[in-house]
Amino acid sequence: MTKDLPKRFFVETWGCQMNELDSQRLSSQLMQEGILPTRDASQADLILLNSCSVREKAAHKAYSRLGEYRLLKQQRPNMLIGFCGCVAQQEGAQALKRVPDLDFVIGPARVGELRQILQQRLLGKRPVATGFPDASDRNYDIDLLSREGSHKGMVTIIEGCNKKCTFCIVPSTRGPEQNRPIGDILAEVRHLLDFGFREIELLGQTVNHWRDPGTDADFAVLLDRVASLEGLERLRFITSYPRDFSQEMVNQFARHPNICPYLHLPVQSGSDRVLKMMGRGYTTELYFDLVDRLRNSRAGLALSTDIIVGFPGETQQDFQATLDLISKVRFASVYAFKYSPRPGTAAPRLNQPEVPLAEADRRLQTLFSLQKEIQTELNQALVGDIFDVLITSWGKTPGTQTGRTPCHRVIHFEHGSEPAAIGDLVRVKVEQAYAHSLIGRAMSHSDTPAVRSQDTSPLPIIT
Ligand code: 5AD
Repeated sequence: MTKDLPKRFFVETWGCQMNELDSQRLSSQLMQEGILPTRDASQADLILLNSCSVREKAAHKAYSRLGEYRLLKQQRPNMLIGFCGCVAQQEGAQALKRVPDLDFVIGPARVGELRQILQQRLLGKRPVATGFPDASDRNYDIDLLSREGSHKGMVTIIEGCNKKCTFCIVPSTRGPEQNRPIGDILAEVRHLLDFGFREIELLGQTVNHWRDPGTDADFAVLLDRVASLEGLERLRFITSYPRDFSQEMVNQFARHPNICPYLHLPVQSGSDRVLKMMGRGYTTELYFDLVDRLRNSRAGLALSTDIIVGFPGETQQDFQATLDLISKVRFASVYAFKYSPRPGTAAPRLNQPEVPLAEADRRLQTLFSLQKEIQTELNQALVGDIFDVLITSWGKTPGTQTGRTPCHRVIHFEHGSEPAAIGDLVRVKVEQAYAHSLIGRAMSHSDTPAVRSQDTSPLPIIT
């Protein structure tokens, strides 16, 4: 095995925004060492697989992916393979046994130690860095972050999770909650704004459960402080826990127009019985009440949610309650999953009858088709409206670009004679709408107000 540092690295990322940011942290440490990224895994001397274990399928995929990388390694014997993320945390040293060519293992709370781990590997060890050091012992250097993409700056405010949802593996893979101090968070956001980011996304598994370790200030205070920063045009945060969403947090939506009118608020089920078995600690009544208050605080608020179908013991009636909730709330988007039993979680021990896979499949499809109808209707109601769109990429066809409205909808638009840069804001009029995206045209008059117009023209025919 080589004692030289690798020259090229490749990172593959699955899962949540936390993993996305962790991959940026991994990449940056390598670049500080002069190791450069490549888009082609077969050209890499170091491959990092940042895995997700939230559902069984993703966890399985991690091992089959490692198997594929082992084949590449047979062609490039000096290649190193590092296993990162939540499956790596879960498996620890076991992964080294299962995958003989694996070089090291890093859990999510140890991401800041990559350089030391790499050094250890070059000295001949096969390091396993898992577990949850105290926040004050974690390396978190904001200058050591290669921010990918130029439109969204992500800032972790709270790591880990203290909830005990009976289906969820995250508390055991990301450990107990660790709050970052308010001073560090504000400094990092300012750093990103100085760098030119216009949109900031605050991250945490339970982002609105954040508390400042020094002053005990809560997330409402943080929202207020961050949204007040000069130059911040768009503020988003993910993921909020319904029970922890206080009225003061709702009030911030009304107070700060730069807080995007978009909120991801996982409900998981529309049945109080199932919510109880899931250990979510709220009822649908609380959820509906929160949704009402949020909607009253901000016009045009788009909500998205996560739903699990086929949780053990979920009856047809429970599932119908979920469909009713979806019809009532009318989410802008829904991420729905079939229940997947995870090791060490409480749900499999509830002694509830399993929902047969074919039935869970059927429920999922029923849910998707209801949601598609709702989504199409909601999007079509936006035709004729004008939005400030944050450009996220070039479009698939010449002359077009893609971006996000403030309510986080994807919009493809014709940019006119002058395209704008990725990360810029342009004013776009919506001309057509589908279930998953809007189609529009950049406005030529920059002084056109970006407010929802009162246009009542008939909906276009979608072919
Ligand atoms: N099975 C299916 N879906 C799950 N999720 C979390 N754990 C499981 C599981 N065991 C879903 C939840 C969560 C989202 C990130 O993943 O809906 O909000």
